[in-house]
Amino acid sequence: MTRILAISGSLRAESFNTALVNALQPFAPEGMQIEVYKGLDELPHFNQDLEANPPASVVRLREAIAEADGLIITTPEYNRSLPGVLKNALDWASRPYARGVLAGKSIVAMSASPGVQGGIRALIQLKTLLRDLNNFVVSGPEISVPEVHTRLGVEADVQHVLTDPATAGMVTHVLAGLQDAIDNNAGELVARPLGAWAASTA
Ligand SMILES: Cc1cc2nc3c(=O)[nH]c(=O)nc-3n(C[C@H](O)[C@H](O)[C@H](O)COP(=O)(O)O)c2cc1C
Repeated sequence: MTRILAISGSLRAESFNTALVNALQPFAPEGMQIEVYKGLDELPHFNQDLEANPPASVVRLREAIAEADGLIITTPEYNRSLPGVLKNALDWASRPYARGVLAGKSIVAMSASPGVQGGIRALIQLKTLLRDLNNFVVSGPEISVPEVHTRLGVEADVQHVLTDPATAGMVTHVLAGLQDAIDNNAGELVARPLGAWAASTA
């Protein structure tokens, strides 16, 4: 089984991004299990003074990422950028420098917005940030979902479903790409020079 941790960058109870990650499982390849991370609101503001002895919520985040074979991260766009809560989580997960749990992961990044641009500016920033953290970020069709409120439905009054066939098709392709990247250790290959350098300085 391939274990994927999905992180939504929104704390909002009715978040479209959280609804989107909750609707992804039906489009995952066989054997891929997507678990949605729920602790984003528990993370304190990043403080480098706490790095040596991080709070329990940070330890839980790092363990969840470390145990996952790959990640899916969806982001809203706030003022043409990433929401602070998501950047904060990525800052925690990136440390200690060169030894953070994010390095070496294969990742799918997505954005969603009720607006017509789909949060593409936040998505570009997210992908740039992740690549600089020595990850393999899956390419392929850009999953920047515009007018997201028209592309999600609700089933049995609780479960969100992805109703837009075009978005569903793209999601299917990038999740297959994520499985392929994990099977071929793409993340590990990207992170290898950094890991070797970190080991040489230990
Ligand atoms: C502070 C703030 C700034 C926003 N800036 C943008 C923006 O730059 N681009 C955009 O498409 N939507 C913007 N929005 C609207 C969000 O896309 C919308 O609130 C969306 O539903 C948030 O994602 P969520 O549903 O996952 O919580 C902004 C919303 C807030 C609260």
